[in-house]
This record gives sequence, structure tokens and C-alpha cells, in this order.
Amino acid sequence: MSQDQSFDVVIIGGGPGGYNAAIRAGQLGLKTAIVETRDVLGGTCLNVGCMPSKALLHASELFELAGHEFKSIGIDVPAPKLNIVQLHKAKQDSVDGLTKGIAFLMKKNKVTAFTGYGKIEGAGKVSVTAKDGAVQTLTSKNIIIATGSEPTPLPGVIVDQKQIVDSTGALSLPAVPKHLVVVGAGIIGLELGSVWRRLGAKVTVVEFLDRITPGMDTEVATAFHKILSKQGFEFKLGTKVTAAKTSAKGVSLSLEAAAGGNAETLEADVVLVAIGRRPFTAGLGLESVGITTDQRGFIPTNHFKTAAPGVWAIGDVIHGPMLAHKAEEDAVAAVELIAGKAGHVDYDLVPSVVYTAPEVAWVGKTEDQLKAAGIQYKVGKFPFIANSRAKINHETEGFVKFLADAKTDRVYGVHILGPQAGEMISEASVLIAFGGASEDLARICHPHPTRSEAVRQAAMGVEGWTMQA
Ligand code: FAD
Ligand code: NAI
Repeated sequence: MSQDQSFDVVIIGGGPGGYNAAIRAGQLGLKTAIVETRDVLGGTCLNVGCMPSKALLHASELFELAGHEFKSIGIDVPAPKLNIVQLHKAKQDSVDGLTKGIAFLMKKNKVTAFTGYGKIEGAGKVSVTAKDGAVQTLTSKNIIIATGSEPTPLPGVIVDQKQIVDSTGALSLPAVPKHLVVVGAGIIGLELGSVWRRLGAKVTVVEFLDRITPGMDTEVATAFHKILSKQGFEFKLGTKVTAAKTSAKGVSLSLEAAAGGNAETLEADVVLVAIGRRPFTAGLGLESVGITTDQRGFIPTNHFKTAAPGVWAIGDVIHGPMLAHKAEEDAVAAVELIAGKAGHVDYDLVPSVVYTAPEVAWVGKTEDQLKAAGIQYKVGKFPFIANSRAKINHETEGFVKFLADAKTDRVYGVHILGPQAGEMISEASVLIAFGGASEDLARICHPHPTRSEAVRQAAMGVEGWTMQA
């Protein structure tokens, strides 16, 4: 191969961190290579994460609406029948389209893509080992590690991707399980639990803590918990799984109270282990440049610089929320720093979204964080039951909550539990990014009838002049 193998930037990992870094580096005129071990780019997010899960969430939501909602609004259709082969095919077709789009963006930005396993072989050197064992060596002034994360294993519960699955297995179940037990009431457990519940599974969620979705504002999480329970989710909070036995009949899980106590058994057809993700750095050659990971496996960084000169790290493999858009922010900032610009990420402005129905979205501080920091704040709230569009659409569960400084009115956080929350949260991000006050938003005209009017009404609530509730 007569290819020039020397670059300004070599990126290891082709997920949202890696491919966005490659695009930005290409835009800034840096000679860029990206190395990905999968056959296609897109990383966890496109291949086995954000995108396939959202495809299943969309399809299963329509399935549930067709079965339970259509009749009440005057649309008589026969009970929907699931074609699971087509469900998975449609999901894969969308994923394939998206990964092709990333390959196109690499070409457009003159990025050279290498398929193979990347390993750092000392300062400025990366080897790429293809599946057939062929090795190429790339040299570069800068190496960006964007190798992402993998599911955290649960001791004593071995994932076989048939009866005991992780998120990857749960995205491709060949049949709807009668009883799905989810270990972990986090985002994956509740999103994928929702998918299979809507398609007909009984879903039980076993959670170690005495609440669901740690990190979410407690008041919002409590309301969300109630809504999910009403939908049919069963929760076993404050409970740990101590062992799992598989047989032809299914999986027998041994449970115990988190604090210890009597054992109980729970039978499942399929168990989804979703207790978090951990950084992935296996076989990366970190030792060759003197990088050591911290106790939890993350690569320590200071403004994306690792301990090794010329080696940078971004995305799930470093600290911060493990989210695709956070990886993208890291990517842009790191590349801009490499190019001599002023790259920076404000982690307070990374929004979170749970794509259930209703959705949950938030940005900035939770009430729990403000209390812990001793900050005096005011609250403005507005329920979707009083929002005309939500009422017309039969989507009245949930509320919007604003948290603003008691004296200055500067907004610290906005939390939305309700329809299309993920689409609505960005106006709160803009407000917080510009140091806005609740009154700034309260005095901006919002279109009627939209759900976003609930956001405005909640902002009005901070100063006590909510008009429509
Ligand atoms: P990754 O996307 O994990 O990409 C890393 C890539 O590096 C992988 O393709 C891997 O094959 C490759 N790689 C690793 N080591 C090497 C090596 N040595 N050589 C070559 N290649 C290597 N986030 C959201 O923001 N929204 C969502 O809706 C969402 N949904 C999710 C749903 C699920 C089921 C899961 C599992 C995750 C979801 N996430 C979501 C999280 C999101 O996928 C991650 O935060 C995001 O993919 C992180 O991007 P990354 O580039 O850091 O790593
Ligand atoms: P998570 O961190 O969101 O939730 C894990 C849950 O498991 C927590 O509630 C935790 O208390 C619980 N847990 C931990 N150990 C346990 C044990 N031994 N027994 C029972 N419960 C236990 O992790 P999850 O759901 O696996 O998702 C991983 C990450 O993927 C998320 O944190 C998020 O960053 C990303 N993701 C984002 C999505 C989105 O943005 N919509 C969707 C899916 C994933």
C-alpha cells in the first residue's frame, strides 16, 4: 500500500467522539486519520446504542398507541400484530443509512479511515491491526483516544446474549419475552424496558438504590417512577441480585435486600443487565506512553490532555456524562485546542434526556444539588395537564420545573417530565448559556398551542405570575 502514513491527528475510535473530532480536524485543515475496529464508523451510539434504541422506542410507542389509544380518538383498527423480523430490519436499515452517512462525512472532510484495532506504540505512533492480522503503522503529532465504553458486568451474572443480555442483546431479542427482568433502574433499563413492555413483556426492574434514575432531580424521578408503575413496570428498589442460574426454562435470579437479609428468587425469561457502563481501554497500549487509568478505568485528563504529551482523550473514556452529545462537545474542544484555538466544554450545559413516554429532560442543576451547595433558589412549576396542546393530544402527565437564584433570578436548572421534553430542553440550555433569568424566558412570546408554552408558564412561576394554572 503506497499510502502516506503520517498525520497531524490520528483518532482511535469511530464513535460520536471520534468521528466528530475527525470532521472538525478536517475542517481545520489538519491531516487526519480515524481508526475503528468495527467494520463501520458510528461507535456504540450508532451501532448498538442511541440510534437502534430510539428506532425500537419509536416503533414500540406506535405499536402501543395503535393498540390502546387509537380507538379512544375515533380510529378503529384491528389489534396490531408484531412482525419482529421487520421491526429489527427497519431498525438496521436506519442504522446502516446513518453509518454510511458518517463514512460520507469522512470523505467530505478528507479524513482517512482505517479499519482495524488501534494501539499506541510509544510517542506519536499508532499501529492498526486488521482482522486478517495485517499491521500498518501511522505516525502523528497528535493522538486522540476516543475508544468509548462497554457495559459494566455484574459479578455472578454472566451475559450470554440469549437469556442474560446486556443492552446490545436487548436491542435484538428475537422474540418478546414473557417476563423481562431488568437489573438497574437507569436510562438503559427504563428505555429498553419500555420497548419490551410496550410490545407485550411483563417487566420487573431490580434496583440497588431506593430510587430510580440516580442523577435525575428527586422530585422529577419520584413522579417519573409513579408514571412508569402506572404503565405496568414493577420495581424492586433497594434490592440486589446475588446470583443467576440459567436453564431451558429461563433464568432464576437470587435477590436480597441491598442492606442484606433474606434471599428471594425471581424467575425470568430474559434478564437485562444495565447497571452502568465503564471506559474501554483494553489493548490500547496506554502503558507505552506512561498513561495510567484511574480506579474506575477512566483516562485522567486536563482539558483533554492526558499525562502523555501529544495524547488527548475524549468521550466516554474520560470523566463526565457518558452521552453522545458530550462526546461531540469534547471532540470539538480537543481538536480546537490542538489547532491552537480556545476549546472549552461547560459540563453544566450538557442536557440529559430519557426517551421514554413521557420523556424526561433536564439541563443545569437539580434541586438536590442546589440544596447541597447551600444556594438559595426559587422554584417555578407548570403541569402539562394545564397545557392546551398536551391536553388535546392526551399527553397530560408531567410538569416543567424551573430553578432560579432567589435574589438574581438567574436560572440554574430546568427539568421537564412530559411529551417531547427532549425537543424542548434546548431553549433552557440557551437561556442558561447566556446567563439568563427566568423573567427573560417568561417574557418571550411562545407559539400557541404548543407544549413549549408550559416551559414559559413554569418560568413565569418563578416570580409567581403563572397565568394558565
Ligand atoms: P463509542 O461510541 O463507544 O465509540 C468508541 C468506538 O471506538 C467504538 O466503535 C469501538 O469499536 C472503537 N474502539 C475501541 N477501542 C478501539 C481500538 N483500540 N481501536 C479501534 N477502535 C476502537 N447517548 C446519548 O447521548 N443519547 C442516547 O439516546 C443514548 N442512548 C444509548 C443507548 C444505549 C443502549 C447505549 C449503550 C448507549 C447510549 N448512549 C446514548 C450513550 C452513547 O452511546 C455514548 O455516550 C457514546 O457513544 C460515546 O461516544 P464515544 O465516541 O466516546 O464512544
Ligand atoms: P445508569 O448509570 O444510567 O444506571 C444504572 C443503574 O443501575 C443505576 O440506577 C444504579 O444504581 C443501578 N445499579 C448499579 N449496580 C447495581 C446492581 N448491582 N444491582 C442493581 N442495580 C444496580 O446506567 P445504564 O442504564 O446502564 O446506562 C449507561 C449509560 O449509557 C447512561 O448512564 C448514559 O450515560 C448512557 N445512556 C444514555 C441514554 C440517553 O441519553 N437517553 C440512553 C441509554 C444509555
